[in-house]
Amino acid sequence: MTKTLITNGTVVNATGTVAADVLIDGEQIVAVLAPGSQLLGSDLTQSVDTVIDAAGKYVIPGGVDAHTHMEMPFGGTFASDTFETGTRAAAHGGTTTIVDFVVQYAGENPIDQYALWHEKAAGNCAIDYGFHQILSDVQDSSLDAMDELIREGVTSFKLFMAYKGVFLSDDGQIVKAMQKAADTGSMIMMHAENGAVIDVLQQQALARGETAPYYHGTTRPWQTEAEATHRAIVYAGMTGAPLYVVHVSAKQAVEEIAAARDRGQNVFAETCPQYLYLSLEEQLGAQSDEWGSFEGAKWVCSTPLRSRAEGHQNHMWQGLRTNDLQVISTDHCPFCMKGQKELGRGDFAKIPNGIGSVEHRLDLIYQGVVLGEISLPRWVELTSTTPARMFGFYGKKGVIQPGADADVVIYDPNAHTTISAATHHMNMDYSAWEGFEIDGGVDTVLSRGRMIVDKGAYRGSKGDGSFIKRGLSQYLV
Ligand code: URP
Ligand code: ZN
Ligand code: ZN
Ligand code: ZN
Repeated sequence: MTKTLITNGTVVNATGTVAADVLIDGEQIVAVLAPGSQLLGSDLTQSVDTVIDAAGKYVIPGGVDAHTHMEMPFGGTFASDTFETGTRAAAHGGTTTIVDFVVQYAGENPIDQYALWHEKAAGNCAIDYGFHQILSDVQDSSLDAMDELIREGVTSFKLFMAYKGVFLSDDGQIVKAMQKAADTGSMIMMHAENGAVIDVLQQQALARGETAPYYHGTTRPWQTEAEATHRAIVYAGMTGAPLYVVHVSAKQAVEEIAAARDRGQNVFAETCPQYLYLSLEEQLGAQSDEWGSFEGAKWVCSTPLRSRAEGHQNHMWQGLRTNDLQVISTDHCPFCMKGQKELGRGDFAKIPNGIGSVEHRLDLIYQGVVLGEISLPRWVELTSTTPARMFGFYGKKGVIQPGADADVVIYDPNAHTTISAATHHMNMDYSAWEGFEIDGGVDTVLSRGRMIVDKGAYRGSKGDGSFIKRGLSQYLV
């Protein structure tokens, strides 16, 4: 077994920072030691195979992205990152675990789909991975499948209050799934948008000739998110189901979540980098020489980017500070402009929904530390520790401590990079973050003790990553 010592660094956990050396034996962290510690009277650096000098750098637990969609079939096409390309890009950005979504569309068997997702991922991933299960148009057979999936380590189920005929479950179906989640202690993840209202607003906009990507945003106003969030919270309270609201972007939705949490409900939520930095006006409404007003298609995702004039972005940072939002995920669901986003030229409702950011989450949220929005330990908590706890694999992941998997990122606060499609590793022909300047950067990445990124260069191989059988949430009150 290979022994590695990371010396001279500053270890950052959710609980705080400390100058410490990290000793790794094989796949695990075996000790976090005072700098320069001796073992049985001899210099530790002499008894290990590799010494990594992390002077001036942060030593953090590998990132956990709890919301990705590799090669997801959606909008008449497939998300453009495969498990191979998407997890390699994630590794470059310091993410060492993803939790991806198995897709079950109306009429499909959840267990068959679960088996299919294993086939897609097995032997292809650069980093460890778990699965959530999407349940569409919930039938009794899907409720039965939940027991089997929980035994398999799939302990969270995503439901949709939008996308009629594709994903949508009606309120009765949602309540049934929540009752089952309450019985089993599993987590309901909710896509909280009022689909019936959005469908009407979309038809009216298109009839007025409003076909550009900008109208994707105006036809999904904050009320459609806040109302659905409220309704999901009411049903979760009624049934006793733990509820995790995905991709929150409206400040009024955060207020609903905060109120539920203040009542002591098991209600949790994530936001994503795009809702912290990007807006309806600047991105969805963008124009370019190459794409004209269709430029905004690059940022069509749901929930949509929101108006900066309405103040949603600042409110997301606020929610992250007050712990009304507990997790930052990417909702990585990339589509190329050529041949994919283009399907919706002339009809914004046909643009495949999704943004790709799996490579940039740690860097983008680290800017919140640089800007003074959040603290250094909070950065680690939001991007690694809490997602691991929320979805039942904390201790193995999400922390630098003895017994944890040696998923370790050495992060250089003095690095400086500029995000660009020309240099990113995601399989996308554009970047939603083109030109974004980043202070700090990933230097070295270890996944279960193996160095997979070394000074920015990929050293791992396809199939390094293994499936994580998750337990129930470790975050419930
Ligand atoms: O636009 C998005 N968010 N695409 C991915 C699917 C989903 O709803 O999370
Ligand atoms: Zn969703
Ligand atoms: Zn509160
Ligand atoms: Zn998603």
